[in-house]
Amino acid sequence: MCAMSVYITRAIPEAGIAKLTAAGLSVSMNPFGRQLLSEELRDEVGRHDGVICQLADRIDEDVLRAGLPRCKVFAACAVGYDNIDLVAAKQLGITITNTPDVLTEATADLTWALLLATARRLGEGERVVRAGAWRGWGMLDFLGVDVCGKTLGIVGAGRIGTAVARRASGFSMQVVYYDRDRREQIESLGARYVSLTSLLESSDFVSLHTPLTEETRHLIDRKTLECMNRHAVLINTSRGAVVDQAALLEALQYGRIAGAGLDVYENEPVVPRELLALENVVVLPHIGSATVSTRSRMAEIAAENVIAVLRGEEPPTPVKE
Ligand code: DGY
Repeated sequence: MCAMSVYITRAIPEAGIAKLTAAGLSVSMNPFGRQLLSEELRDEVGRHDGVICQLADRIDEDVLRAGLPRCKVFAACAVGYDNIDLVAAKQLGITITNTPDVLTEATADLTWALLLATARRLGEGERVVRAGAWRGWGMLDFLGVDVCGKTLGIVGAGRIGTAVARRASGFSMQVVYYDRDRREQIESLGARYVSLTSLLESSDFVSLHTPLTEETRHLIDRKTLECMNRHAVLINTSRGAVVDQAALLEALQYGRIAGAGLDVYENEPVVPRELLALENVVVLPHIGSATVSTRSRMAEIAAENVIAVLRGEEPPTPVKE
C-alpha cells in the first residue's frame, strides 16, 4: 500500500492521520485552513486513492467523477451524509462511509445543553454579564420556563433521538416521539409514539433528530410551526434544512413559539442577521459532536474505513442506501 495516497479536505484530529500513516498510506491535506472551493476539490481528488471529507464539502457527481479512475472511497467524518450524492457514487463504483454511533452521546449531551440554555435564557444572561450591564439580582429578571416535568417531543427516534430521550427521565419529563415507523428502543424508555401533528400540539420542547432527506426537508415549516404551542421551544441539532428557516424566523419574531435553540442552519455558515437579533434564540456553530474524544474517534473511524477499502476489504461503516 506504500504508493497509495489519501487526501484530507480539512484538518482532522491527529489520531486519524496516525492510523493512515501506520497503514503505510501517504497523506496530503488541504493547506488553506478553510473549506475547499468545488473546483479545488475536483482538481485534487483524482490524484488520490481515497478522500476523507467533512460535512461542509459538497461531494456531488462532478466531484465523484473527477476522482475517477483512481479514487475508490470518500470517507465522511460525520454521521450525516446529505452532502454526498449516493446515487452517483453507487453508479461510479465509489464507496461512501460515515461515522455512526461514536457521536451519539456527545450530540445528545449538546442537545440538552441547548435545550436548557434556551429554556433558561443562558445566552441572554451571559451577554448581559459580559457587557458589564448586570444591575444585580431582580425578581423579574431573566425569567425562563421550567423543564422538569414537561413534555419533550422527539422527531426522529434513531440513535441520537433515543439518547436524548434517555436523558429526559432525569428531568421527570413525558416523552412523545414521531418517526416513519415505531421504534422499540425509545418505547422501552417509556416514550409514546404519536403523529407529528399530535407531537407538535402536545410538546413543551420539540427536538429534531431526523436525517436530511427529500422527505424531511422543511418538515418544520409555516404549517407545522402553527401546530406548536406558543410557550414551546424548538431545538435543532440535526440539519438546518429540516426547518424552513424563514418560517421559523417569522414564528419567533411574532411570538408564535417561545424560542429556539439552534446548532444547525439552512446555509451554513451563514446565520441570518434577523435571527441573531432575537433574544429568544440560542445559536451555536454546529458543534453537536465537538468533544475531543468524539472527534478523535470520528477521525479514526474515517481512517479505518479508507484503509479497509484500499485493502479491498469491507469497510467498518459503509453508507448503504
Ligand atoms: C454529523 O456527524 O452529521 C454531525 O452533524 C457533525 O458531527
